[in-house]
Amino acid sequence: MSASLIALPDAAGLARASALLREGSLVGLPTETVYGLAANALDPAAVAKIFEAKGRPFFDPLIVHLPGLAEAEALVTGEWPAQARKLAELFWPGPLTLILPKHPSIPDLVTSGLPYVALRAPSHPVAQAVLKAAGLPLAAPSANRFGRISPTTAEAVAEELGGAAALALILDGGPCPIGLESTILAFPEGESRPLLLRAGGLSVEEIEHAVGPLAHNTRLGKEAPPAGAAAPGQLPSHYAPRTPLRRIGHPSEVAPGDRNATALLAFGPLDAGDAASFQAVENLSPSASLPEAAARLFTLLRTLDHAAAREIVALPVPETGLGLAINDRLIRAAHQ
Ligand code: TXA
Ligand code: MG
Repeated sequence: MSASLIALPDAAGLARASALLREGSLVGLPTETVYGLAANALDPAAVAKIFEAKGRPFFDPLIVHLPGLAEAEALVTGEWPAQARKLAELFWPGPLTLILPKHPSIPDLVTSGLPYVALRAPSHPVAQAVLKAAGLPLAAPSANRFGRISPTTAEAVAEELGGAAALALILDGGPCPIGLESTILAFPEGESRPLLLRAGGLSVEEIEHAVGPLAHNTRLGKEAPPAGAAAPGQLPSHYAPRTPLRRIGHPSEVAPGDRNATALLAFGPLDAGDAASFQAVENLSPSASLPEAAARLFTLLRTLDHAAAREIVALPVPETGLGLAINDRLIRAAHQ
């Protein structure tokens, strides 16, 4: 891994990022949710490099990032659903992605041929600075190999994609403050409720407080949905460490003889006895804070994956607030 692949987001770093994006290269950049692998969304050749670098199938569309609502207007065809506009006004910039009828200027490669585009205005100051400096909408998936753990640090991006020739630069904005991908909503015709396609960094409670009840066709937080039932890319196996992961109710479910080959991902206060003799132990939040657990989830999954245990076992997280999205990621990480 070359040291110059990672740069600080100072004036020189931002100028380099913007020049690279304009000439069709890929740039890794921090957002408040996870690091993205960005390309000029209006340049199909640049967008194709994203799919190649990630090993991502072309049927899985990309989110287009903009500074805010004003820039989003030009990428949508027709009237916005009233709820979509209200949510954008309330929560952009922030961890919310809206699926809306696409403008013809967006290449079909970005949307996998769908007539809808996923739009998001990220709040991270580095993402905002790059969007404004480049003056382009940026297509950016999470900067991991397809199906793997999303990166929440610049080093994790380098670990995932450092070998990809088209990745010219990673801007280091430190750890992502939210740590979970954006919440995705669609607005199907003939359905009065917005449809939750992916639980994420903006809680369902906050959204429902603003626009009333959401519909969802995935049994989020209960079990992985059947393939194709959610966002096209929300496959049952996703966010997966290389080490097999299993969700358990209590550490005592792991036999004492198996513990020295097992890594424990805990949540909340843990007795010394409960943690004893595991090969590795990490706690998402000893004080049972869901925002803290969300921010640490992907980094700790990576840490435990590096422990080279036979298995990772994960303790339960409550189903409220960000817990819904945390459980969704753990369920998919556990799916073989
Ligand atoms: O927080 C985030 O959303 C991060 C940061 C980088 O912004 N991005 C992210 O992108 O998570 P990605 O590609 O890893 O996940 C995007 C999800 C996929 O499941 C994809 O199938 C879905 O959004 N998606 C994209 N465009 C869509 C569309 N037009 N209709 C339905 N789902 C779409
Ligand atoms: Mg992803």
